[in-house]
Amino acid sequence: MDRLIIQGQKALCGNVDISGCKNAAVAILPASLLANDVVVLENIPDIADIKNQVRIMREMDVDVEYLDRHTLKVDSRHMKNDCANSESVRKMRASYYFLGVLLGRFKKARVAFPGGCDFGVRPIDLHIKGFEALGATVTTKAVIEMQADELRGTNIFLDFASVGATINIMLAAVMAEGTTVIENAAKEPHVVDTASFLNSMGADVKGAGTDTIRIRGVKKLHGSTYAIIPDQIETGTYMISAAVTGGDVTVHNVIPRHMDSISAKLREIGVRVIEDDDSIRVIGKGCRLRPCKVKTLPYPGFPTDMQPQIMVLLATIPGTSMINESVWDSRFKYVDQLRKLGANIDVESHLAIIEGVEKLVGTDVEATDLRAGAAMVLAGLAASGVTTVSNVNYIDRGYENMVEKLQGIGARIRRDSGREDPQLSVITGNAV
Ligand code: EPZ
Repeated sequence: MDRLIIQGQKALCGNVDISGCKNAAVAILPASLLANDVVVLENIPDIADIKNQVRIMREMDVDVEYLDRHTLKVDSRHMKNDCANSESVRKMRASYYFLGVLLGRFKKARVAFPGGCDFGVRPIDLHIKGFEALGATVTTKAVIEMQADELRGTNIFLDFASVGATINIMLAAVMAEGTTVIENAAKEPHVVDTASFLNSMGADVKGAGTDTIRIRGVKKLHGSTYAIIPDQIETGTYMISAAVTGGDVTVHNVIPRHMDSISAKLREIGVRVIEDDDSIRVIGKGCRLRPCKVKTLPYPGFPTDMQPQIMVLLATIPGTSMINESVWDSRFKYVDQLRKLGANIDVESHLAIIEGVEKLVGTDVEATDLRAGAAMVLAGLAASGVTTVSNVNYIDRGYENMVEKLQGIGARIRRDSGREDPQLSVITGNAV
């Protein structure tokens, strides 16, 4: 199993190009199956979750061709509508989008239960509530099976502004009879991007980005060429890399307004954040950083997917900070790994109390999920000495070329197959 070897305490400086948004791409790629036609998707991130979804689609006889590393051509005119026995489905949570797509196109679906990062219970009851409201009969035994004589538009109120449920109901409703209204809908940029993509195929979706989304059913959808938005969470991760190392990093190909809650929090901490049309410069160098409070919330609040990353920054700022994780039941499991680096953090249910320390000290840690893995890398970049991060496969799921992008801004980091002694590579003076 690969690991990353990092020699910390080097200020990162330079430019990072941001890739396409994982959580938009893992929705839009399955959504392309709603059109019995050819679809071309651009700015697709080159990450493991996308490769996994391509495998699932090919298992359903969808013709998926890479026109280049970031452009996919999808031809679903001869596909079958069953991915119940796919091992790949069980590897990721976003497999649940095949439920909405197969129901929306074929009015029946058989899909294995989705997998995903371990934040405690991750139900899909809101998704199923939406499918049943549209007229589907759903059974959840060994696999999830759904069938509907017809799908009829209806009003659906979501108990929680669930990203997945909002998108999945849109997918099932775009070709239903009549109009569907989703209330208390999620407003994340990837929800809006999926709605924009559906409309590019001839759907009639209005209100995405607000609490209320209205979907007027259409008879059929047609092919489209569509470019995915940049990744808000990848952007935020590299913004924090500048803050936590006292560097000066500019992230490019971004949509600054998607970053508002993260930019505002970094400014509150004392980091300089300078926005341009499609780039943001983050300067930690020479800034006196101060502790603060963070509460994760659905968009436009501070994103839960940035919670581990900002935890690392706060762990290195003397004083008392707090993080309230209000989206997931148990998303602090990675804190034990930070404690190995010397972080002083107390966790009580949804609340973390952080006593910032002067510095973290490098050691061996492991990624416990995708964003926690990114946080371990940030911690290693800030820590003295050498840090190794194992279970790199988690990071590969959602970050394209993280090692190369960090090396490009001066990080002493490299990928290792897990055999060499990391201290040796430091002692012999080899680039880490
Ligand atoms: C999406 O997950 C993202 N994943 C997650 O990002 C992200 O953390 C989450 O949204 C919140 O922003 C993808 O987009 C693939 P939710 P999702 O439905 O859709 C409860 C990453 O690192 N809930 O908004 O699963 C749920 O338990 C990943 O990129 C129900 O109770 O999140 C949670 O408490 C990690 N019933 C809350 O809602 C349901 O049917 C938020 O879940 C669905 C959700």
